[in-house]
Amino acid sequence: MASARILVVGGAGYIGSVCARALLRAGHSVVTYDDLSTGFREAVSGPLVQGDIADTGTLRDTLREGRFDAVMHFASRIAVGESVREPLMYYGVNVKGSLSLLEAMADARVRALVFSSSAAVYGDPRELPIPEHHPFAPVSPYGRTKAMIEEVLGDLRAASGLRSASLRYFNAAGAAEDGWLGEAHQPETHLIPLAIAAGLGQRPPLDVFGTDYETSDGSCIRDYIHVEDLADAHLAALDRLLEGDAGSSWNVGTGQGHTVLEVLDAVGRGLGSPVPWRAAARRPGDPPALVASADRIRAELGWQPRRSGLDEIVRAACRWARDPRYGAGVLAAGLSR
Ligand code: UFG
Repeated sequence: MASARILVVGGAGYIGSVCARALLRAGHSVVTYDDLSTGFREAVSGPLVQGDIADTGTLRDTLREGRFDAVMHFASRIAVGESVREPLMYYGVNVKGSLSLLEAMADARVRALVFSSSAAVYGDPRELPIPEHHPFAPVSPYGRTKAMIEEVLGDLRAASGLRSASLRYFNAAGAAEDGWLGEAHQPETHLIPLAIAAGLGQRPPLDVFGTDYETSDGSCIRDYIHVEDLADAHLAALDRLLEGDAGSSWNVGTGQGHTVLEVLDAVGRGLGSPVPWRAAARRPGDPPALVASADRIRAELGWQPRRSGLDEIVRAACRWARDPRYGAGVLAAGLSR
């Protein structure tokens, strides 16, 4: 695919920054738009426009001046539990923010969008692995914000010809191959970084949320996808849109599930010493198992995971955690900034 100009909204965050770097490697030119509220300046590759997603005017000016061919949209609040406690914040950032971006894109006549959706749109799945035609049944405000924007994108595809790809991430994990970019959420809620911090003695033993699920060892099953494989899926979806395709929604997962205890074993192998853990109550809103059907994305986009073996993901995450390029101390201190 020829080189294109891409605005990466939310490109200072974990997944956005890895995707921005992958776009550059693929020969595209990239500008990041981010308010740095949760992202990191150090994670940005190339020029940064520091702005809020709610600021439609600045977005519109940025899009017009840069003559962008497409937008990748990663700017979002991502913690399920927080979304239950603070739904207005989630509808504000994830829904209102996305509408602001879509309005700016319409004004600037930018006609292609890759959108970060989530497995959370499915809620408690009725079947496993979960196919894309599984009904939307989100069980949290976070999941509802993603489902709502997917619906909006469907309407815009029909009404104005906006081409869009909604990528429904399963559990993004790992770190960039060059060791520069990794996961440093504030506060961190995700299993692998927390398990590593527990294993390194930076935090107390990991609480395993639920050991009485109907799974092989009683803990929850998730489908972990290496963040670089996720970036490849973005490139494949973008190419499709730039070729003129109207776009669709695709799961991005491996089709392979792992229990929490299997993940802890893998982290123990990655660190060379076992991860201390204790059984804790189920976390409200956690489905027992989430595993993607990855058939459609393989067939339609020719994408497949190349580095998403559990040990490979965990090794990348361990390497980054031992040598974080930014955000150091976040996990240890449990700070929120
Ligand atoms: N877990 C623990 N202890 C912890 C943290 C997590 O046992 O301290 C468990 C969770 O219960 C879950 C698994 O580890 O079973 C993975 O949890 P994460 O918090 O890492 O990820 P989630 O599956 O909850 O969330 C991910 C994305 C969300 C997305 C969601 C879809 O991070 O953005 O999948 O359900 F919404």
